Amino acid sequence: MSHVRVETQDRVLRIELARPEKKNALSPDMYAALAAAFAAADADANVRAMLIHGTSGCFTSGNDVRDFLELERAPGASPASGFLRAIAAAQKPVVAAVGGPAVGVGTTMLLHFDLIFAAPNARFQLPFVPLGLLPEAASSLLLPMVAGYQRAAELLLLGQPFTAEKALAAGIVTEIVPQAELLDYARTAALALAALPPASVRMTKALMKRALAPAVRERMQEELALFGERLKSPEAKEALGAFLEKRKPDFSRFS
Ligand code: COA
Repeated sequence: MSHVRVETQDRVLRIELARPEKKNALSPDMYAALAAAFAAADADANVRAMLIHGTSGCFTSGNDVRDFLELERAPGASPASGFLRAIAAAQKPVVAAVGGPAVGVGTTMLLHFDLIFAAPNARFQLPFVPLGLLPEAASSLLLPMVAGYQRAAELLLLGQPFTAEKALAAGIVTEIVPQAELLDYARTAALALAALPPASVRMTKALMKRALAPAVRERMQEELALFGERLKSPEAKEALGAFLEKRKPDFSRFS
């Protein structure tokens, strides 16, 4: 069964991340399916808005930690990088409904979307540094702009989980919505976007994104190249090995 479910209804293309047994961790196949869904949305005149959500109690735990070795071989050409390029280039508005964990790319993808609704149980995290890696999806550029440098520094350097309220204060989240209403609320917003004059919506999004788009593309490339290097580093091997072996990492021997 596919771990990414896509359907279009009432001019809204809905994407469900559906790999609950791995907390919706994103595999290469899932990234490819997501990139295809974003491309399909832009190509289909019947689609006017997108809605992305996870399964009950979980948005996504981010990149599948086991697949990081795959990225090590060809970070720039990986399905993950194709997904990142697709979300940066999306022409139609994207609404996200976030409940439970939103880790790594589960948080950084939101910086590219338009309306982000979070349940009080949402737990965001940017654990790139604790994993011996570094930020992706141009988050090293976008988060300081959205949140201010000091708030971004706390979230990106310490890499600890943070609440929906903190995400709201940092500007990552549009609104906090009761858990039981989250998906309906987000769907209603997507339907409202879909009912608006479509060219006006697309052009307004394009105008808001235009100034930063070249810098975003450039930063994504730079981060991906550095990310590939970090994946080969002894620090990342220790951190990722510790996750897979369910133990605490030890960075004391590194300089
Ligand atoms: N990649 C691969 N497997 C993952 C995963 C990921 N990103 N996130 C969770 N899983 C797996 C766990 O290994 C576990 O598998 P198992 O049942 O075979 O042991 C299963 O999903 C359930 O995860 P678990 O950690 O038991 O759930 P939890 O509710 O206690 O915690 C998270 C949820 C998301 C907070 C936690 O799993 C986590 O921190 N995951 C890693 C996130 C991460 O570092 N992502 C990379 C970002 S760059």
